[in-house]
Amino acid sequence: MTKKKLLLLPGDGIGPEVMAEVERVLAWLNQSGRAQFEYETDLVGGCAYDAHGEAISDAAMDKAHAADAVILGAVGGPKWANVPYAKRPEAGLLRLRKDMKLFANLRPAICYPALTEASSLKREVVEGLDLMIVRELTGGVYFGEPKEIVTLESGERRAVDSQLYYEHEIDRIARVAFELARARGKRLASVEKHNVMRTGVLWKSVVTRVHEDYKDIELTHVLADNCAMQLVKWPKQFDTIVTDNLFGDVLSDLAAMSTGSLGMLPSASLGAKDANGRRPALYEPVHGSAPDIAGKGIANPIATIGSLGMALRYSFDLGKEADLVDAAIAGVLAKGLRTPDIMQDGMTKVGTVEMGEAIVGELKRLAA
Ligand code: NAD
Ligand code: IPM
Ligand code: MN
Repeated sequence: MTKKKLLLLPGDGIGPEVMAEVERVLAWLNQSGRAQFEYETDLVGGCAYDAHGEAISDAAMDKAHAADAVILGAVGGPKWANVPYAKRPEAGLLRLRKDMKLFANLRPAICYPALTEASSLKREVVEGLDLMIVRELTGGVYFGEPKEIVTLESGERRAVDSQLYYEHEIDRIARVAFELARARGKRLASVEKHNVMRTGVLWKSVVTRVHEDYKDIELTHVLADNCAMQLVKWPKQFDTIVTDNLFGDVLSDLAAMSTGSLGMLPSASLGAKDANGRRPALYEPVHGSAPDIAGKGIANPIATIGSLGMALRYSFDLGKEADLVDAAIAGVLAKGLRTPDIMQDGMTKVGTVEMGEAIVGELKRLAA
C-alpha cells in the first residue's frame, strides 16, 4: 500500500485539542492496516504569527501543496486582536484556501439519531436531517478588490469590501453542487440576493444556465434572508444548497444548530482535479478556535474527526473506512457519551480525550 501524505495544521485555541483526537484515529487506521498515512505537523494562525511573524510560512505552504490532503484544526483568538490585518491568524487560512484553489467547500449538516433532542430546535424539525451546504470558497466579498479602510481628507474613515464574482467561478461551483445533488436527493436550492446585488443577478442566471446540463435535478432559487428563516422553520425542506462565500459561512453556522452543536459540523474544501487526477484538498471543522473553552479539555472533537472521515471519502477513495468513522461517531452518541456542548439529561458527560478514545474504541469494535 503506498503511503498517503497528510499535513496536519492544528492551529490555535481548541485546534490542537481536537487535532490530537484526529491523530488517535489516524494511528488506529494505520495500525489496523486499513490505510497507510504518514503525516507531519506545522503551524498556522496565531501560533505561526508568534513563531514567524506570518499566519502561515512559505515552508508550510509548500508542505500543504505537496501533501495529498491537509487537515486543519482552527485559527484565531483574542491574543491576536491587534495584529495587522494581513498577518492575522485568519489570513493563514484564507491563504491556504486561495493558493490551493479550494473553491468548493462542502459542509454537511447531519442530525445523528441520538442527538434529535440535543438541538435548540424541536425534535420533529431536526430528526433525520441530512443537508449539504456547498459554499463557494475562493471568491466573493472575502477576496474582491478593493478591500480597504481609507482615511478621507475630512478625517473620516471609509471602509469598503467588494463582493465580486466571475461567471466561471459561479459555473464551476454550480456544477459541483449539481453533481452532489444528483448523488443525494436530486434537489438543489441556489441561494443569493438578486433583489439587491448584481452578483446575485449573475449567480442566478449562471446557475439557471448550468441547470440545462442537469435537468434531472429540481432547482429552486431562494433569497438568502428567506433561506435563513426557512432553515430554522423546516430545514428538511432542503437537500443541497449552493451559495456564495459569505452567505455560506453564515448559513452553515446556522444549520449547525440543527445537528445539536457547531462542534458537530465537518467540512471539505476541494479544488479542481489536475491532469493526473490529483485534487487539492483541505479538511477542517466548521467551527473556530473557541477561545471561551480552549485549554479546558471539553471541546467536541467530532467535527474534526468527521472532517478526517470526509478526507477518507473525498481524497483517498476509502469510502468504507469513512462509513466506519461515521458509524463510530453515531455509536458513541447512541451510548450516551456527550461533550458539554451536546449534553442532555441522563447522558454521560465526557471531555475531548475521552470522546476521542471512545470513538477509536467503537472503531475497533465495529471493524472486528
Ligand atoms: P467559534 O466557532 O470558535 O465558537 C463559537 C461558539 O461555539 C463558542 O461558544 C464555542 O465554545 C463553541 N464551539 C465551537 N467549536 C466547538 C467545539 N468543537 N466544541 C464545543 N463548543 C464549540 O467562533 P468565534 O468564537 O466567533 O470565533 C473564535 C475565533 O475563531 C475567531 O478568531 C474566529 O476568526 C476564528 N474562527 C476560525 C475558524 C477556522 O479556523 N476555520 C472558523 C470560525 C472562526
Ligand atoms: C469558517 C471561518 C472562516 C471564514 C474565518 C476564520 C476566516 O469562519 O471557515 O467558517 O469566514 O471562512
Ligand atoms: Mn465561519
